[in-house]
Amino acid sequence: MLKKLQQHWHVNGWQVLLILITFALGGSLCGYVGRKLLGLIAIDNKAIWIALYIILVTLLWPLCVLLISVPLGQFSFFRTYVGKLIKKIMGNKPKAMDNKVNIAIFASGEGSNAKKIIDYFANTATNIALIVSNNSNAGVLQIATNNNINTLIIDKDDFFRGEGYISTLKKYNVDFIVLAGFLWKVPSSLILAYQKKIINIHPALLPKYGGKGMYGHFVHEAVIAAKEAESGITIHYVDEIYDHGEVIFQAKCVVDGTDTPQTLAAKIQTLEHTHYPTVIASVLPKQR
Ligand code: GAR
Repeated sequence: MLKKLQQHWHVNGWQVLLILITFALGGSLCGYVGRKLLGLIAIDNKAIWIALYIILVTLLWPLCVLLISVPLGQFSFFRTYVGKLIKKIMGNKPKAMDNKVNIAIFASGEGSNAKKIIDYFANTATNIALIVSNNSNAGVLQIATNNNINTLIIDKDDFFRGEGYISTLKKYNVDFIVLAGFLWKVPSSLILAYQKKIINIHPALLPKYGGKGMYGHFVHEAVIAAKEAESGITIHYVDEIYDHGEVIFQAKCVVDGTDTPQTLAAKIQTLEHTHYPTVIASVLPKQR
């Protein structure tokens, strides 16, 4: 149960405890304040009293949990939680209803590239509408929460045998998909729905060191084992084959005899963070 909450809220065990305490204290506080306020006016009719009490408590609850969350150090969680709740009550309308171009970022891991992309497009005519992940423990989900971006955890069967979440992406008005460390293959249904509108970044100079199982440190280990003199990054359109679609951009770095998979990974990450956001900007549709 606790583990489930941890995954659902993307927090650690201690935080789950503090969040539950905040819920309990916030709930009691708003019940107490609600009764005190109603005590100030004389209401004889029990039904009216109950109706007013429910309305008051509903209005007071967000304020009370936010208040209690401050001394317990959980304000940022509850700010997001209350915001999402209000959105849900208002019909969970996707944020982007204006003319901005909407990107969905698909990621399975830490999300350092996702963070760079979010920062780059902040306050521009491009909106990061959704972060999609196959991994409910992915660090990228915390980045989404911190930046107030909607998230979607996808299920393997629905992704590969269903309609590839196309209707959900359309609901969020997604125009363009950016893979940033996304480790599942993209199903044909999605590629068809977003032709030339899905791009990926790969931490090597494709066509070398790509394909199934070639991700993260496996790539760097293979490059070093082969004594390559250079490696780099490839940004490419996504097609039905792993790491295969038309190349949009490549950048290189030197691999020398002293490099380890870790030092090479750091060089590659610098290249990725420098180039991915600007390359995305260069291939995005100019308007919706
Ligand atoms: C990036 O290095 C990206 O190139 C790689 O995953 C990392 C994600 O890092 N992608 C692949 O290997 C795809 N085959 P991040 O989560 O810190 O952005």
